[in-house]
Amino acid sequence: MMVNPYDDSRLLLALQVDHSRVAGFLAAHWGNAMFSEPKPFSSVVLAAQEHDNGWAEWEIKPSTLNDKGYPLDYHDGSIKYLGKFRLDFYKDGVNQIVQRDPYAGLLVLMHGVGLMNGGYGRFTYPPDRTANPLVKEYVDHQEKLRERLLADLRGSEEFREFITAEKLWANYELMTIFDQMAQFICNRYPLNNNGARQSGPHSDLNNVPVPVGQGQDPVRVTIDPTDEKNATVRPYPFDLDPLVVSFPARLVPKRSYANPEDFLKEFYRAERITVSHSLHAS
Ligand SMILES: [Fe+2]
Repeated sequence: MMVNPYDDSRLLLALQVDHSRVAGFLAAHWGNAMFSEPKPFSSVVLAAQEHDNGWAEWEIKPSTLNDKGYPLDYHDGSIKYLGKFRLDFYKDGVNQIVQRDPYAGLLVLMHGVGLMNGGYGRFTYPPDRTANPLVKEYVDHQEKLRERLLADLRGSEEFREFITAEKLWANYELMTIFDQMAQFICNRYPLNNNGARQSGPHSDLNNVPVPVGQGQDPVRVTIDPTDEKNATVRPYPFDLDPLVVSFPARLVPKRSYANPEDFLKEFYRAERITVSHSLHAS
């Protein structure tokens, strides 16, 4: 859950699963004269859309509060507060997607593991957490599953051509930028509230390498809000300009909660709103 200041008396809550759908929407519109469309298209879009689907197991009843009694924000420390459950529900999320689309499942698996092992050594943030035995067990389990999925995909007419190291890691990096951009969009309100967070992607989207197309060097993409509802993305990777991005959110009182039931009552009763922002080439 992304817990954002909304006004003097309320917090705006965006669920991880709704942030995840923003990532899927960005993936579905990714591609223009400069940037190649994701391939295989529906698998990559599905993977982006469902990359945080495991969170649904907790978010149907977000019953853990942080040390200050506030709703649990995704940067409070999911393993600190949820422990093994956090790792188990990511496994469940992967299993669910694998049944519908094994290539998408593989990408969700790699994204989930990458959050725990420094992006397979590619990124410094989030940091490598595999010194924690619970995390190590999770990563080892998922890496064994990754090997099995790769073996299956090698035998698949539909997916064989997309499991070369170059294409697989390019899709992993695409997943990362979809996630970074969807975090930026959902983890602040309004869009130009740049001081809202210390952690999480800033305008440079953690400087992750962004694939442009096969055989071309990756680029860095930035997002710069111009007002409360608009931002400029450079270079611009989408097929529509502007691209209107919306997500559902809920408003709860901005206060410390006495216990989980105290919060859950407000969470289930909360006013729902739709947040819409527009991304522009310039
Ligand atoms: Fe995410």
